[in-house]
Amino acid sequence: MSTELENNVYIVTGGSRGFGLAIAKSLVEHGARVGLISRNQSGLDQAVAEIGADHALGVAADVGSRSSVSIAFEKIQTHFGRLDGLVNNAGLATPNKVENLVEEEVMLQVQTNFLGTVFCSQVAIPMLRSSENPRIITISSASAWHYDEMSHLSIYASTKAAVERFTRDLRLEVQADGIGVTCIRPGGAWTNFSDGWDTQALEGALAAWKDVGRHMDMGMEVAQVGDAVRYALSQPPGVAIDLLEIRPNALASKSMF
Ligand SMILES: NC(=O)c1ccc[n+]([C@@H]2O[C@H](COP(=O)([O-])OP(=O)(O)OC[C@H]3O[C@@H](n4cnc5c(N)ncnc54)[C@H](OP(=O)(O)O)[C@@H]3O)[C@@H](O)[C@H]2O)c1
Repeated sequence: MSTELENNVYIVTGGSRGFGLAIAKSLVEHGARVGLISRNQSGLDQAVAEIGADHALGVAADVGSRSSVSIAFEKIQTHFGRLDGLVNNAGLATPNKVENLVEEEVMLQVQTNFLGTVFCSQVAIPMLRSSENPRIITISSASAWHYDEMSHLSIYASTKAAVERFTRDLRLEVQADGIGVTCIRPGGAWTNFSDGWDTQALEGALAAWKDVGRHMDMGMEVAQVGDAVRYALSQPPGVAIDLLEIRPNALASKSMF
């Protein structure tokens, strides 16, 4: 085990599975302890059992609710006695054509992906001031900039573009506190991200994507994203990686259509 992040404590939102769990595992492998946030306690309990209760604490909260975030972050800070960083990873998408998206789907994506990042960052900033190497990471998506990623993700991609714009101002604002801010922009990886998607709407999205997409790539392992986050968090005080884009680079052996 490397001791690169020894004793440091990081909050990972969306830490119960997918990228969040991979990020948490990578940080713990390098000496850190992690506070995991997601809405369902059962998923968090499973993640903590995988990582080990000495190194992880799971607290249920909805990142789209500032009061819920505040209570959860205080519990984590009190439990470990410190906070060194926040990884804003919780996010979701509901693909559909613009005219067919219902209000709840639009609001859920904006509330979770964009406002969740805003609220978690707001609550974390004062807690991070006493760390020697404080960090905030925001997880964007390649779909915010690469139009061949997937179709019918207009709201999702827009929330991620908003996250990136927010990250730029955040980085400048907290420089005086020595807080390093990094935006990480991953491409596709296989997770539970598409669970619960409306398959009929998805069929339309894939058909439309066929016209703009050049190829279907293979997707990355979640561990690659975990390691990218760990790398950004491991920079020395006074240095911050501004933006890190990581995308798969392998073509599928057969077309998915
Ligand atoms: N997978 C990809 O290909 C891909 C590519 C680029 C970017 N991303 C981004 O990477 C991040 C993680 O995605 P993933 O693929 O790991 O998805 P995932 O497997 O669906 O995991 C999402 C996590 O976020 C949590 N979550 C969702 N809404 C939440 C809320 N309102 N409050 C607190 N936690 C919430 C989920 O737990 P609960 O459901 O229990 O709340 C879960 O832990 C997202 O921001 C996503 O946009 C993913």
